[in-house]
Amino acid sequence: MRTYYCGEVRQQQIGETLTFWGWVDRRRDHGGVIFLDLRDRTGIIQIVSDPQRTPDSYEHAEALRNEYVVKVTGRVSQRPEESLNPKLPTGEVEVYAESIELLNAVRKQLPFQVSTADVETVREDLRLKYRYLDLRRDRMSKNLQLRHQVVKAMRRYLEDQQGFIEVETPILTRSTPEGARDYLVPSRVNPSQWYALPQSPQLFKQLLMVSGLDRYYQIARCFRDEDLRADRQPEFTQLDMEMSFLSQEEIIQLNEELVAYIFKTVKGIDLPTPFPRLTYAQAMERYGSDKPDTRFGLELVNVSQLFKDSGFKVFSGAVKAGGVVKVLPIPGGNSAISNVRIKPGGDLFKEATDAGAKGVAYVRVKAGGEIDTIGAIKDNLSDAQKQELLELTAAEDGHLLLFGAGPTEVVNKTLDRLRLVIGKELGLIDNTKNNLLWVTQFPMFEWNADEKRLEALHHPFTAPYPEDLHDLKTARAQAYDLVFNGYEIGGGSLRIYQQEIQQQVFEAIGLSPEEASNKFGFLLEAFEYGAPPHGGIAYGLDRLVMLLAGEESIRDVIAFPKTQQASCLLTDAPAAVDAKQLKELHVASTYKPKT
Ligand code: AMO
Repeated sequence: MRTYYCGEVRQQQIGETLTFWGWVDRRRDHGGVIFLDLRDRTGIIQIVSDPQRTPDSYEHAEALRNEYVVKVTGRVSQRPEESLNPKLPTGEVEVYAESIELLNAVRKQLPFQVSTADVETVREDLRLKYRYLDLRRDRMSKNLQLRHQVVKAMRRYLEDQQGFIEVETPILTRSTPEGARDYLVPSRVNPSQWYALPQSPQLFKQLLMVSGLDRYYQIARCFRDEDLRADRQPEFTQLDMEMSFLSQEEIIQLNEELVAYIFKTVKGIDLPTPFPRLTYAQAMERYGSDKPDTRFGLELVNVSQLFKDSGFKVFSGAVKAGGVVKVLPIPGGNSAISNVRIKPGGDLFKEATDAGAKGVAYVRVKAGGEIDTIGAIKDNLSDAQKQELLELTAAEDGHLLLFGAGPTEVVNKTLDRLRLVIGKELGLIDNTKNNLLWVTQFPMFEWNADEKRLEALHHPFTAPYPEDLHDLKTARAQAYDLVFNGYEIGGGSLRIYQQEIQQQVFEAIGLSPEEASNKFGFLLEAFEYGAPPHGGIAYGLDRLVMLLAGEESIRDVIAFPKTQQASCLLTDAPAAVDAKQLKELHVASTYKPKT
């Protein structure tokens, strides 16, 4: 029987004989005495095998190599002064091995050293191909354990304190309305019919409210065929929730308690509640983003009024065309950021053009409020206007002012990117902060320029504010996102439960009654049989755990993630299948490889 895991042994166990099972993390031979670092999921314990003191184990210890699987029984002793290791929780003790049993050897050359000492140098594709070895490493093992703790805390709070019930919803289903591309599965028994994998359990959780379940949650797998990034996977996990008869305020409060409970349980951190809030309009105006990182300043300043009649046509033209002129003021930016970086060919110029801008205008503020720029801006500013610019941007000696001018979305996107890059570069981001922020009052719709139609920003079941019903096109949605240090970790809304309003929303996004009934008929019909007012939210579990673990990619908190090309290097999925299988499914590929 195992009495302790490796990482759990402390001075209290000195004198006890214990048995450990684990992997050889490292083996060192110190002038005849063999030291083993024995590892299991909790950490490492030092095992000593000495030809004099423990002759029985010595022979076995000599034959061990890294990653061999062993069972060790031995007495816990105090380490001598010179070999205390304050970096290890078990660093004050060691175990004299009375017996060592080899349970399994490593038969092939290891693709990389698992031992924690060599970790960061391993290429990610190798780590993913041999994920089971990668997951032996302390950092990854800790991440998976943290993920488990987070899920456990969610369940404890929701089930034990709030009466939520977990219900599983189908994976083989119909298209759900989250706006990404679907993963499709052909049906063998229904030729030419397809299931879609759920982008979220959205429709089912609303049906569960019609069923009277009142409070539902699920740790739900979701599937979205979209372009992948460090914080996006084609399959990912949500904590998905839906509640009946609660107002937006009540839902937000319950969720603040949930998040505070998770932080307290998992990290021992007391989060102050209520969390700050910004409306979507405020967030866009001040940060150019609906998921602002509020751990640092560098807020944007709208100077459209100042430039609307300016002789500098790039600026006045932008305002006249319905756009904006905004400034990103950077204290100390004069010395930190050179012209070369802002001009064509520079890295900041590239950031801006990648965001859709044509370029970046800039002004350097000198002592006494003198401004230094390449002609156009300065030449077209009166002294009073210059003064106003300095006041609006609170600019002093040393400030660099970066300007964005053009369509509002482009300017916001550009300055948001520059703000993040520069904030990071100048070390303005305080990594000890845990900034949670609600963004509320999203617009109901956004304009899809390609398809020339309005599109639901969240999904078409999101309820508008009742006072905005007179003009749905500009209405605000009763929707809320939770942002954590600049990442969207959750989003939800109150739902429409009255048929007339639902019809109006479908009309606004150009969905005919036939199309609506074809896509969501079952939900709309359910609403005719007594739907309670309801609302909900879903958290991106992977993103939340990534941030709690201090990782930069959600791949590092998912046991078996996919690459940026949506493939699994371990199993080689996706893969070709037999022609016979395809035939049974009534499917043929139209793909023609490029020659
Ligand atoms: P939404 O689409 O905003 O809302 O998703 C909720 C949260 O899921 C996370 N997320 C992702 N995480 C990893 N990879 C992805 N590809 C990915 N896409 C989204 C984000 C996001 O905040 N049904 C609604 C919720 C509701 O209205 O109740 C929904 O799915 O953290």
